[in-house]
Amino acid sequence: MKQIELIATSAAGVEAMVKSEVTKLGFKDIHTENGKISFKGDISSIPKANIWLRCADRVLLKIGEFKALSFEELFEKTKALPWDEWISIDGKFTVLGKSVKSKLFSISDSQAIVKKAVVEKLKSKYNVEWFKETGAEYTIQVSLLNDIATLTIDTSGTALHKRGYREKNITAPIKETLAAAMIMVSYWNKNKTLLDCFCGSGTIPIEAALIGKNIAPGLNRTFASQEWSVISQDIWKQERRDALKSIDQNLNLSIYASDINPEAIEVSKENAYKAGVDDCIKFFTSDFKDVKIKDQYGVIISNPPYGERISEKKDVENLYRVLGQTLSNYSTWSKYILTSVEKFESLYGKKADKKRKFYNGNIKVDYYQYFGPKPT
Ligand SMILES: C[S@@+](CC[C@H](N)C(=O)[O-])C[C@H]1O[C@@H](n2cnc3c(N)ncnc32)[C@H](O)[C@@H]1O
Repeated sequence: MKQIELIATSAAGVEAMVKSEVTKLGFKDIHTENGKISFKGDISSIPKANIWLRCADRVLLKIGEFKALSFEELFEKTKALPWDEWISIDGKFTVLGKSVKSKLFSISDSQAIVKKAVVEKLKSKYNVEWFKETGAEYTIQVSLLNDIATLTIDTSGTALHKRGYREKNITAPIKETLAAAMIMVSYWNKNKTLLDCFCGSGTIPIEAALIGKNIAPGLNRTFASQEWSVISQDIWKQERRDALKSIDQNLNLSIYASDINPEAIEVSKENAYKAGVDDCIKFFTSDFKDVKIKDQYGVIISNPPYGERISEKKDVENLYRVLGQTLSNYSTWSKYILTSVEKFESLYGKKADKKRKFYNGNIKVDYYQYFGPKPT
C-alpha cells in the first residue's frame, strides 16, 4: 500500500505527548521538531490520526519539500508535486503561507505562486481551463523555513481541539488538547481518583473521562478530508467502527469536578453529557477550600484563575496561599496546577517537584507538579 507522510502540529511544549500518541497508534518513521511531529503510514492513517490524536492541533498531509530561492523555483517545484493525486476536479483549494528566515519572505507572493502552480498541475490532469472550486476543501500550506519550502494539505479542517462537546463555555476555558496533555503527563490513570476543584466548563474532567474510557476524541465530529474522494468512505467507517469497539464500556471511573460558580457546574454537566461521559464524573458546586474527598490516594489537576486583570491580582494571590494550605491536607495525593502567575510556588508555599512550560492560547503558563507517594 502507498506510504504517505503526515505531520501532526502541536502547541509548544506538547510535542512529547503527541509523539507518544503517534507511537502508540503504530505509525512509523516518527520525527519531532518544534511544534511538528511527522510520521508515515498508509491512507487509513488520515482518519486514524484525526480520530485518535488527543493533544495535536491538526494533521497535515505532506505533499513535498524542497529548497526554493526564487519564485521560479517555487513555481516549478510546486507544479512538479502530485497535487492531482489528491485534489478532485471540483476541489476548493485555499493557500495559506508562512515564511521564517527565508529569501522568499513575501507570504502573499508565495501563496499566489503556489496557487498558480497547483492550478497549472490540475489543468494538465483534468483538461479544463477553469475550476469551479465548489467541492471538498483542500487547505494548502506553503511553509518556508531557512529556504526550505514544505507543502502540505490540511486533513483536519476545524482544529482538533474542537471535539464538539463544548458548545457552552465559562470564562477562560483551556483548549481540550492542552487539558489532554496535562492529564497525559500526570500520574493519573483510569484506576485513580481525579479531582479538578476549579473545573469551569469541565474540560479537564471530561478529557480525563475520555482517556479513561478510551473514547477517541474525534469520534463525534467530522474532518475536511472526510469529503475527499481519494479516501474511500469505507476506510472512515472502518476506523470509526474500530474506535467504537475500543471503548471500555464497563469501566467505573472516580472523577470529581467542582467549581464555586453554580453556572459552571451546569455548563460542565451539559458538556459532559454531550461528550457521553456524564455518568463518569461527579460534579458539585463548592469553594475549593471546602472540598473534601475521602480517598486516601488520588490526583488533583486544576487550572485556577490567573488574575490577568490588575484588580484581581491581590485576590488571586490570596487564593493561591489558601490553595497551598488546603491541598496540604491531601498529603498522599499528587497535585498538578497550571497557572501563569510567576510567583506561584512562593504563594502556594512549596517548590514543585517538576515544572513544564505550556502555552494556554497566547499566555505562557507553567505546569507545577507535586508528586505524592506511591500507593501501597
Ligand atoms: C481558569 S477557570 C478554569 C477553566 C477550566 N479549566 C475550563 O477549561 O473551563 C477558573 C475557574 O475557577 C473558578 N473559581 C474561582 N474561585 C474559586 C474558588 N474559590 N473555589 C472554586 N472555584 C473557583 C471560577 O469560577 C472558574 O470557573
